[in-house]
Amino acid sequence: MQSAQEYPELEKAKTRVLVVEDDASLCRILESFLRQEAYQVTSCNTAPEASERLKAESFHLVLLDLALPPTNNVSEGLALMEYCLRSAKHTKIVIISGEGTVDTAMACIRQGAEDYLVKPIDLAKLSVIFERALQRQKLEQWTETIQSERVRKARLGRLLGQSFLMQRVYAKIRHAAERDANVLILGESGTGKGLVAETIHDLSKRRDKPFVKVNCTALSEGLLESELFGHRKGSFTGAIQHRIGKFEFTNGGTLFLDEIGEIPPQVQSKLLHAVEDKEIQRIGGNQAIQVDIRIIAATNSNIKELMNKKRFRADLYYRLNTTMITVPPLRTRDRDIQLLADECLREFNHYRYKGFSLPASERLMQHDWPGNVRELRSVIYRAMGGAPEGGWIEPQHLEMDTDPEEEAPQSGLRSLQESLTHYERLVILTALSRNRGNVSKTAEELRITRSGLHKKIIRLHIRKEEYAYEEKG
Ligand SMILES: Nc1ncnc2c1ncn2[C@@H]1O[C@H](COP(=O)(O)OP(=O)(O)OP(=O)(O)O)[C@@H](O)[C@H]1O
Ligand SMILES: [Mg+2]
Repeated sequence: MQSAQEYPELEKAKTRVLVVEDDASLCRILESFLRQEAYQVTSCNTAPEASERLKAESFHLVLLDLALPPTNNVSEGLALMEYCLRSAKHTKIVIISGEGTVDTAMACIRQGAEDYLVKPIDLAKLSVIFERALQRQKLEQWTETIQSERVRKARLGRLLGQSFLMQRVYAKIRHAAERDANVLILGESGTGKGLVAETIHDLSKRRDKPFVKVNCTALSEGLLESELFGHRKGSFTGAIQHRIGKFEFTNGGTLFLDEIGEIPPQVQSKLLHAVEDKEIQRIGGNQAIQVDIRIIAATNSNIKELMNKKRFRADLYYRLNTTMITVPPLRTRDRDIQLLADECLREFNHYRYKGFSLPASERLMQHDWPGNVRELRSVIYRAMGGAPEGGWIEPQHLEMDTDPEEEAPQSGLRSLQESLTHYERLVILTALSRNRGNVSKTAEELRITRSGLHKKIIRLHIRKEEYAYEEKG
């Protein structure tokens, strides 16, 4: 094991403490007591002085009186606390409260302070509170180290995922990157198909050449054709000058064709020709131009169905899907949800929030994520507007994009679909616990297939803990 992962020792002598207390004699008592306890102590008596200190140095622990000069109002201490919570994430704050400010002190804890002591101060209690705060601090830092190690392992390029399904996608990405074959990426909207394409390029030998994306939906037939293959001046109305297409521009690199399900038939046949013969012709031109590119195509539509309906050419499909990667929806990747959410929070705002409260995490796990990772990111982005800084993100800050089949209607009554889902889940859970978690037996009892039951367990987010049973004897 790396030393960074070893549980750190509590070392008081290396612990810097700031005491902020305007009552000079109390301040002296606290200071000498804490020195005796082996802490490194700095003290100050006014808010501006404390603010200077906090800006200049970092402290492990801050013992903070609230009513401080110049105004002697609690707002002085509160401002200092907020500054600490915002700028020094690991600093632990212990509030000193007068009899009249206990409510305020409690509010401070809700905001992120560690604990509070009421005057007259019980020094033995102070000692215990400090030790415990220090212990918590070390534990948090330790967890963070482990977390960042976990994140490192779960990464591939800009992709993140520790679930089995994502690890399988990683293996396919690596495999595809090594070879130079065309790749077809399938998956629901927002699952990360764009990132997968980018990652394949970045790991491939073409990495120093361009990675160019064409969104095939955004363009009409004529425009798409000219976008891909270029045109000669005067070849159609509006073609006022020569233009080189993305195929030529990408030469040597990777061309990412997004939403290929939307490519009109005429462009499909030109594309087939370009893919098969590795050459193109500009619109209005008669010269064949050689190109060396790898094509990665992606779609969230059901391409097989499009082929059946003759809206997508089968020969083109087989040319594009030399390697096929299916990116699984987020709801089937339980182990990735919290990881992605934590990372997202870190990325958007490193220090302003403590993280997700337990109920908030549960809410994240229970949601179906029809918009996948894109939806998760936007939910978290919005939550940061609603949650108070320095505190936890709670369930009420998480506004999921409403899915009419899943979310409760305003009245508080369940929709038919919701009730059915609810009872289906209950029936399966009960059967699973009756059969002590044995899936085959449960499936038999419910008269469905084993794989059918498996699918339902995933879809309904049924977790082992929910049907855990006591092993007797
Ligand atoms: N595994 C992942 N790790 C980190 N970020 C991800 C992951 N998957 C998706 N994202 C992020 O989620 C968002 C949506 O991803 P992306 O655009 O690649 O999805 P998509 O499958 O191409 O969706 P669409 O079909 O709508 O184009 C992006 O911001 C992307 O960075
Ligand atoms: Mg995309």
